[in-house]
Amino acid sequence: MLIEWKPEFSVGEPILDADHRHLIELLNRFSDDFEPRRSKAATTDNLVKLFSSACKHFAREEAIMQAHAYSNDYVKHYADHQRLLNEVTLMMYEHQYGLMKDSHALAERIQNWFHDHHTTYDARFHLSVHETDGAS
Ligand SMILES: [Fe+2]
Ligand SMILES: [Fe+2]
Repeated sequence: MLIEWKPEFSVGEPILDADHRHLIELLNRFSDDFEPRRSKAATTDNLVKLFSSACKHFAREEAIMQAHAYSNDYVKHYADHQRLLNEVTLMMYEHQYGLMKDSHALAERIQNWFHDHHTTYDARFHLSVHETDGAS
């Protein structure tokens, strides 16, 4: 398992927590890629699912931020979602052309994909939304 869900990952919105759990589940499937007999098609399929689920999740999260009139860091948060989608696209190309050979590098990349964004943006979103609710 590359990433384990922890209660502190919760952002206080059940639908977003469910999305984050689903993304973690998809990210953990990449640990199977370290198995020598894993087919190339299975990894491609997982990358496509990750891209699709991430698109849906980011759109939902952005809509909730807007509904809460959450303006702090909205643009940076949105831009980081685009960066994450670009990263998955890059991984698709690298996988297609056989450039993803180092399993340790891939594991670190997968972990960072979730943790860097979650720690920097989604975790702050929790605090800001509840501060905004309390102030209104
Ligand atoms: Fe986010
Ligand atoms: Fe998120």
